[in-house]
Amino acid sequence: MQIVSSPAAMQRLAQKWQRAGTRIGFVPTMGYLHAGHLSLVQRARQAAGSRGKIVVSIYVNPTQFAPTEDLANYPRDLKRDLKLCRAAGVDVVFTPGDAAMYAGKAEGIYSTFVAEEKLSQRMEGATRPTHFRGVTTVVAKLFNLVQPDMAVFGQKDFQQAAVIKRMVADLNFPVKIIVAPTLREADGLAMSSRNKYLDAEQRAQAVILYHALQAASAAVQTKSISAARLKTDLQEFITAAPAARLDYVEFFDPETLVPAARVKRGTQMALAVFFGRTRLIDNARL
Ligand code: PAF
Repeated sequence: MQIVSSPAAMQRLAQKWQRAGTRIGFVPTMGYLHAGHLSLVQRARQAAGSRGKIVVSIYVNPTQFAPTEDLANYPRDLKRDLKLCRAAGVDVVFTPGDAAMYAGKAEGIYSTFVAEEKLSQRMEGATRPTHFRGVTTVVAKLFNLVQPDMAVFGQKDFQQAAVIKRMVADLNFPVKIIVAPTLREADGLAMSSRNKYLDAEQRAQAVILYHALQAASAAVQTKSISAARLKTDLQEFITAAPAARLDYVEFFDPETLVPAARVKRGTQMALAVFFGRTRLIDNARL
């Protein structure tokens, strides 16, 4: 397994592979890898084939964090991540630094960003207004450097995957976007690097996100319910976990992300819940 930290070297390697007709599968991450990330690597391997090359990027992208967010504390363990990548059969781990990824930013020269302006506005975008601009910017840059034929994203970040698919279509990136299912802990909590922030009590209560998805799903299997009514019910359901504070719960069309007035089987639900300063998200097709 090769470790590449220079963006220029990564791009040269990707160009060499592209010239040789080698398929490149890509999994962009912010590190602190867990089984969910490794399932994305397996999916990339399956898509790229045994002769393809798998690149995992590990980069905690500063432009997708607001100044008040957890950039400085975001968990990092590169040594462990590299071990996991090696065991998972990754060919290249791309670990750029900020100075190389955003050359000229410290001097105030860096001035180009990529922004999706529709799907990114609600939910995560409403709570974190600059987040998706950071994500689309870094993913566009990573696509230019890694030149993947396919890239795998987790379904846990449902809105992120939708925004990236839109960007790829709108800006003609020749990249197939694959969205892989959310991996869950034994009790149902979606795997996330941020779960590490939870104390024992918060961790025990964090399963409320999954239970809320299940309760909503059960409620709409045979009938439709008004979104407003279901939101009120879920708000109450979630406050049964005393450490939980609901940020949002939304119901929408899984393709267009257009909010649904009535919730029925097949509607997409997403929610974000704070436990102290830690904010967890989850989603499901009901
Ligand atoms: O989902 C993530 O970990 C990040 O948003 C991504 C896609 C790696 C961009 O920094």
